[in-house]
Amino acid sequence: MNPAPVTILVLNGPNLNRLGTREPHIYGTDTLTDVLNACAQTAESLGLSLDARQSDDEATLISWVHEATDARMPIIINPAAFTHYSYALRDALAAHPGPSVEVHLSNPAAREDFRATSVISPVVSATIAGLKADSYSLAVRAVASLLAQ
Ligand code: DQA
Repeated sequence: MNPAPVTILVLNGPNLNRLGTREPHIYGTDTLTDVLNACAQTAESLGLSLDARQSDDEATLISWVHEATDARMPIIINPAAFTHYSYALRDALAAHPGPSVEVHLSNPAAREDFRATSVISPVVSATIAGLKADSYSLAVRAVASLLAQ
């Protein structure tokens, strides 16, 4: 009997439920559902499954990171604006055993000065940014690669 596929928790922070209409020149025209559907296809091709969630609320995102830590699930997270200032989310991710991949649709380092700092990057396994929707599928590949290491 085949073992159950690894499930990756894919967490999306504030305003990412607005993709499709939110600043399309920066984030593209795909909705979050479009992005996650493409990501799920990549996961399936690699024998992985996804549990994707979105919240505008910092406490909710932190509780989901704790859930992944307790269940030893890999994480892909787009912390959105929390990337730049949430020490609480950073601390939750620092206690996660990994793999964990930070993902961004845009390249925050090439934008406003405040986006150049990620308080999340130092505590995750890898960061992928700047490829719009493709960032997410590449993040799934990154988790697969980290699991194989
Ligand atoms: C983002 C970049 C962040 O700076 C911004 O606050 C977002 C989206 C991205 O995916 O490019 O909400 O995380």
